[in-house]
Amino acid sequence: MDQMGSMQKLRIIQVGLGVRGQKWAEVMRAHPSVEIIGYVDTRLEVAQALIASWQEQTPFYASLVGALADHSADAVLLVTPPDLHHEQSMLAFQHGCHVLCEKPLTEIYAESIALVREAEQRGLHLMVGHNFRYLPVNQHLRQMFQTQEQGQTGFGHFTYLRNRDGNRADLNKYPLSMHQPMLLEQSVHHFDLMRYCYGEEITHVQADTWRPAFSTYEGDCCVSALLTFESGFRLNYLGTWTSGHNRFAFEWRTDCSKGAIFQKQQFEELYKTTLTPGLALEGELFKTDAKVEPLQSIPLPACRAFYDDTRGLLDEFIGAVLHNRPLITSGKDHLKTLGVTLAVDEAAVSGQKIEMKSFYQSRGVPAAWL
Ligand SMILES: NC(=O)c1ccc[n+]([C@@H]2O[C@H](COP(=O)([O-])OP(=O)(O)OC[C@H]3O[C@@H](n4cnc5c(N)ncnc54)[C@H](O)[C@@H]3O)[C@@H](O)[C@H]2O)c1
Repeated sequence: MDQMGSMQKLRIIQVGLGVRGQKWAEVMRAHPSVEIIGYVDTRLEVAQALIASWQEQTPFYASLVGALADHSADAVLLVTPPDLHHEQSMLAFQHGCHVLCEKPLTEIYAESIALVREAEQRGLHLMVGHNFRYLPVNQHLRQMFQTQEQGQTGFGHFTYLRNRDGNRADLNKYPLSMHQPMLLEQSVHHFDLMRYCYGEEITHVQADTWRPAFSTYEGDCCVSALLTFESGFRLNYLGTWTSGHNRFAFEWRTDCSKGAIFQKQQFEELYKTTLTPGLALEGELFKTDAKVEPLQSIPLPACRAFYDDTRGLLDEFIGAVLHNRPLITSGKDHLKTLGVTLAVDEAAVSGQKIEMKSFYQSRGVPAAWL
């Protein structure tokens, strides 16, 4: 509240009204602490039609430069293709604005480091759009690993097998020609969730990426990685946007000393099992469902994926900017998620096992940021 007793609002310019931007606009428009003071999109006709359909008078612009010249904003939300994020974030910082930028912050590591440094030097916040952290399933997973409810982690197995045809009308088009579309657009979310939920950093990366001949993408869209975590456990990852079956298959399984944890759907469905001591010494050698510990379903609050989780992320940003709360999903934190993501690319090209400590050092990331 301000001195007049009215709720303080964050004055935001939103840049990008494409597939993701339209979801962001819905979340922002419904938020009591947000005032959208302008929209920016190079497709003016799209912006105009959308704003008219919302029965709003909010001004819209073809460039961020124009919007920043006309308004004094507190923050800029960037929902544009990744190759624009560096230039647009820098511009926002130069106008004294905090930035909430969609993932990946940039495709080039040095540019992301430069953005984190610029934000720090100017005393501004930089946040990255890892909204999936705020899905109830991921919040619960994080809590389970924080409390070590199932004991010590032995290994993880993460599969994301999807036949995503990049030519579909309701999908963004820029990934069709990206160098690493799956890795930079999708796997980046998965690596971020692993870091966030396990509460551990990835220390080593072994990986390969490739393009099946029947893919609709120009770049690689199969990503396979073996990741080592601080406590020594390994996670095996396979993600793809080019599959031979249209049934989407998602599973994130973690086996621990007292049982296992299974996330069976991308945005929901969490189960655990409790290991029965001695059961492995008895009965069949290769046990089937009826003879093993049953899956126990974990109840989770209802959630509208892409909206409720985005609202959680926006709350974090508003908390930091308006109420001085810590920013957790920050640009600095993203340097570790993006570092692992780009180390996968490097490992695929070099065939080498990458040690993340050396990776950060060689890129000039200050030790204090890690
Ligand atoms: N966090 C998530 O869940 C999630 C989901 C999807 C996409 N994304 C991210 O959101 C970002 C945008 O993805 P999308 O799917 O909305 O892409 P999109 O191609 O559908 O939308 C991009 C929009 O930016 C506009 N644009 C292009 N150049 C511009 C410029 N110079 N100035 C202003 N506007 C410009 C385009 O006209 C388009 O409307 C990407 O970084 C992507 O990775 C995040």
